[in-house]
Amino acid sequence: MDPKVYACGVLTVSDKGARGEREDTAGPLIERVLAENGFRPAAYAIVPDEAAAIRGKVCDWTDRQAIDLVVTAGGTGLSPRDVTPEAVRPLLDREIPGMAEAMRLASLQKTPHAMLSRGLAGTRGKSLIITLPGSAKAARENLEAVLPALAHAIYKLQGGEKDCGG
Ligand code: MTE
Repeated sequence: MDPKVYACGVLTVSDKGARGEREDTAGPLIERVLAENGFRPAAYAIVPDEAAAIRGKVCDWTDRQAIDLVVTAGGTGLSPRDVTPEAVRPLLDREIPGMAEAMRLASLQKTPHAMLSRGLAGTRGKSLIITLPGSAKAARENLEAVLPALAHAIYKLQGGEKDCGG
């Protein structure tokens, strides 16, 4: 049987992006990398750095549209308006600390500023949610760290019983 093609949604979190004052380069890049790696882009949006807006979009995609993988970009740092982890954490059934650790571990090889990202990963229902930093470079580097485990994570989350095989 062909493996299932998982649907992904990309949510850019940026005040300036939402106001149309800054072109979103991270969102389209994440979509492209995911598509190149077998995911089907199914949703894309930009919201401001507001917890309610972030939660509304994430819950719509996970609970109503049954999107398998939701990836956010931006708002994971320490700026006063950065609220993505606070917005997403209460939505999660289970956190996956290893994925966030892997992102920071890989990213620290690139820049010491990687330790400033509070990005997280976790599950909501049958969806996997990952929060990436907002610059295109940082988003790509963080995404690449978890990419090799994404499909297997969703497979297991959705009840797949095949052995893990390493
Ligand atoms: N991770 C990687 N791999 N590469 C980067 O350039 N930039 C860092 C960090 N993580 C970076 C990175 C910086 S400068 C910040 S401030 C934080 O991510 C948070 O970014 P955000 O507020 O856009 O989410």
